[in-house]
Amino acid sequence: MSSIDMSIEYVDRIYKYMKNGASVEDFMKKFHINYKELNGLLELCRVYGKNVEAVVKNNVLVFEKTFARNIITAKPGITMDELIHTEILVVSDTHFGNIHQQLHLLNKVYEEAYNRGITLVLHVGDVVDGNYLNRPEQPRQQFLHGFDEQVGYVVDMYPYVEGVTTKYILGSHDETHYKNGQATVNQWLSRCRPDMEYLGQDFASINVNGVKIFMDHPGGGSAQSVSYKAQKRIEIIESNYKPKILLIGHYHKSYSFVYRNIRGIEVPCFCGKTQFQQKQGLTNAVGAYFLNIWSDSKGNIQYFEPEEILFKENDFWDEAGKDRNKVKQLKIVA
Ligand SMILES: [Fe+2]
Ligand SMILES: [Fe+2]
Repeated sequence: MSSIDMSIEYVDRIYKYMKNGASVEDFMKKFHINYKELNGLLELCRVYGKNVEAVVKNNVLVFEKTFARNIITAKPGITMDELIHTEILVVSDTHFGNIHQQLHLLNKVYEEAYNRGITLVLHVGDVVDGNYLNRPEQPRQQFLHGFDEQVGYVVDMYPYVEGVTTKYILGSHDETHYKNGQATVNQWLSRCRPDMEYLGQDFASINVNGVKIFMDHPGGGSAQSVSYKAQKRIEIIESNYKPKILLIGHYHKSYSFVYRNIRGIEVPCFCGKTQFQQKQGLTNAVGAYFLNIWSDSKGNIQYFEPEEILFKENDFWDEAGKDRNKVKQLKIVA
C-alpha cells in the first residue's frame, strides 16, 4: 500500500480487521503496510473516534481497542477490572424463504462472532418469512413456500458454530404458520438444532451475566421515523419491571438510544427491501449489532458499547437468486 486512503468508509472497513488482541504483524502482512503507514492508520482511526492502539502483550504486538466512546454511564471510582464484560451478537428478521433474504451476510456476522470468541447470539424474531393468507402477492416474493420448506431450510442452513448458542424468539411472520395450522417453528428447531434455543413467541426476558435483557418483536405497521415506535415500546414497560437493555425486532431499522434509563436497540434485518416495504415507503436496514456490556455485580450497566454493523446495497445478493443458489451453510467446528 503506497498511500493510505483517508476516507471514513475505508477506515470503517479496515477497523473491523483490527480485532482486539489480534496480531499487528499479521494485519500488516494482509494489507501490505509498513510501520510508518500503520501509525498513520492508527492516527486516522483516532481522528474518526475509533480508539485503537498497538500494544505489546506477552511479547507480541497486538491491537487493543479502548472503549472510551459511547460510554453511557460510569460511576466515578469504578474501574473496568471490577466489572463483568460480556460481548454478544444480536440479529433479527432473517425472513428465510423470502427472495430478498441475505443468508451470506448472516454468515459473515456469525463468522465475525466466532473470531471475537462470542458464545451467545440473540435473534429477535421473524426467523422465516411465513405465510400470510391475506397477502396473495406473498408467494411470488418467496422461493420457499409453506411450513415444511421454510423450517426445513432453517434446520439445514442456519449458521452453525460450535460453542455458539443462538437464543431466539419468534415473530409475526413465524406466527403465521401457527395461525394457519398450529405449526410451531420452535418444535422442529428444538428437535433438529440443539444449538438454537427457543425463548418465546413475540417476547422474552433473559438474564445474561446478571444483566436483564428484554427481546421484543412487536406486531403492526412500522413508522417513517426510526425512533418513534421504539420509544413507544419503552413507554409501555412498567417502571418496576424495567430491563437494562431492550432489543426490538420487526421494524427492520437500525437505531440505538437511551430512554427511561433503558438502552434500546432497534435491530436491523437480514432481508433486502420487500415489495411491501417499497409500497409503504418504508426504509430497510440490513445488519446487526455487537454489544459490549460492562456490568457490576448487581447487573447494572456501567459501560455500554453498541457496535452497529450495517451492510450497503452493493453487499446484497438479490439478482438471479444468487443468495439462495450459491450460499452454503456456515459450519465452523473446532
Ligand atoms: Fe420482519
Ligand atoms: Fe415482524
